[in-house]
Amino acid sequence: MVIYSEYTHAVDLQELHEQIRNCTKCPLHRHRKNAVPGEGGMKLGVMLVGEAPGAVEDEQGRPFVGPAGQLLTKSLSQLGVHREDVFITNVVKCRPPENRTPREDEVEACMPYLLKQIEILKPRRVVALGLVSAVALLRHMGRGVERLSDVRGRCFKGRIAGIELEVCVTYHPAAVLRNPKLRGEFQSDLAVFFGGGLERYF
Ligand code: URA
Ligand code: SF4
Repeated sequence: MVIYSEYTHAVDLQELHEQIRNCTKCPLHRHRKNAVPGEGGMKLGVMLVGEAPGAVEDEQGRPFVGPAGQLLTKSLSQLGVHREDVFITNVVKCRPPENRTPREDEVEACMPYLLKQIEILKPRRVVALGLVSAVALLRHMGRGVERLSDVRGRCFKGRIAGIELEVCVTYHPAAVLRNPKLRGEFQSDLAVFFGGGLERYF
């Protein structure tokens, strides 16, 4: 019997996303309208990881579709990157009340889903959007992070969920919305992370 790996991935990912949509592992499930597992493709071998869904994401069950998402989508398209060609997700899959920062226990409860997504999708590069994501990802490479400015604009090689990859760090697009002065650095970080000698997957 021939097993097509793409098909197998799709099935695994679909099952995982179904689990996420039904998950009650942490208190955030009580407030959500929809869990937001993530979406997109691996044509470029890149995964983008935000913090947690906001109001519009919770409403639609899709990542980065509110104001911050629009900024992100536009920044990608300026580099010729279609958002459908990148897998976009968050550390925490359900919206925290009033968009507060997810708590440590919530990050810990939800992190296995991100690790499984990494294991299934095998990204070459994972772009951490903001401090929560950078802390959560770089911890799995044994690197502690206190301030975003210590790691922003940099890539770190290592292994997460058994996959060799680089974690590259930039601002959270919501921070760029609040402070438009960050826009230039955000855009140039993404240009490096999406240029930087990445081989195309296909
Ligand atoms: N902010 C995030 O971190 N993630 C989203 O999906 C939307 C806004
Ligand atoms: Fe489950 Fe994550 Fe949602 Fe918590 S945030 S209920 S761990 S999917």
